[in-house]
Amino acid sequence: MEEERLNAIDLFAGCGGLSKGFMDAGFDIIVGVDNDQAALNTFVRNHNGAVALNADLSKQETFDEIRRIAGDRKIDVIIAGPPCQGFSLTGPRNFDDERNKLYLAVIRMVKDFQPEGFIIENVPGMATLYKGQIKEEILRRFRKMGYNIDCKILCAADYGVPQMRKRLIFMGVKKKYGDPQFPEAEFTPENYRTCRDAISDLPSREKELGKEEDDYTSPPLTEYQELMRGDCHILYNHVATNHTQMVKDTIALVPEGGNYKDLPPGWGESRKFNEAWTRYDGNKPSRTIDTGHRNHFHYQYNRVPTIRENARLQSFPDDFVFTGTRTQQNRQVGNAVPPLLGQALAKALLKSIGREEEHAE
Ligand SMILES: C[S@@+](CC[C@H](N)C(=O)[O-])C[C@H]1O[C@@H](n2cnc3c(N)ncnc32)[C@H](O)[C@@H]1O
Repeated sequence: MEEERLNAIDLFAGCGGLSKGFMDAGFDIIVGVDNDQAALNTFVRNHNGAVALNADLSKQETFDEIRRIAGDRKIDVIIAGPPCQGFSLTGPRNFDDERNKLYLAVIRMVKDFQPEGFIIENVPGMATLYKGQIKEEILRRFRKMGYNIDCKILCAADYGVPQMRKRLIFMGVKKKYGDPQFPEAEFTPENYRTCRDAISDLPSREKELGKEEDDYTSPPLTEYQELMRGDCHILYNHVATNHTQMVKDTIALVPEGGNYKDLPPGWGESRKFNEAWTRYDGNKPSRTIDTGHRNHFHYQYNRVPTIRENARLQSFPDDFVFTGTRTQQNRQVGNAVPPLLGQALAKALLKSIGREEEHAE
């Protein structure tokens, strides 16, 4: 008998890191919605026929369009990564402010589709905004709508991602299922995957910048590299940045794991904040990959990581190809939920709604 696959929609999808994890756990992604066309171009290239909808999620007509795309299919799960700029709480319970409209859109969508469960991802700082009142208000609204919901700050490294990336995760399921169950950590600080585990097989690019499509020059050297390569035989997006001699000379002075504080007096004066001139430590997971591309450097080479190296540190498999300008690609990679964390969340959600057996790999 053919297994019944569950349907999900991805709101604020970006290039689709979170939904890639859900796909890998056996979900069908019906539609990914975002208002950044460059990110959607990458999404559609890597999401097996999912519709990419370019629309503003604060608008009513976007709801209607999503409904039309879903047709008579049941939406089992909603996943969302709304940006949280501009949150506001002008008084107790005054969450309906214009500035919270993107979060309110997610709440409305859950109310409308009545999925069995949902996941919302956000930056950890959101938990303590307005002394935690925003978070509490979100929990209260979903509970009122018939969901059991909880939130937790999870670290991606605990789920096999070679990166110390912390994110606030809300997980909700219909009350009949009991409490949502968050994924158990699969790794501990003693066996976290490291930068070296993740990218040591990729060519240095110190002599040439490389091409958007290229050959691997060595076999995979670790089980993680094997996992990321899968059946992929082409090395995509491994193009180095053409740094000025000043940048190369400056970063050459920073030891592995160091930063601007290791520079001699007078060097690197133009960048002097916490993360400036940070060289990764090959024996540790990376710091949080962000949307910029000028502060974090390769643990060994005198350049910033390529898109493919950052994608590996985010646990995107090598056949997940990024499109657009380099700035757009950096934004897509840096904004994403690491697919391995997404997959752990998808499996935990399946377990929470009693569907884990059906979706066993
Ligand atoms: C944190 S990123 C989401 C990352 C995504 N979940 C992933 O795992 O790849 C937030 C996304 O919200 C999108 N966005 C911001 N405002 C929006 C709006 N009004 N309507 C639709 N999308 C919006 C941005 O373009 C961005 O891609």
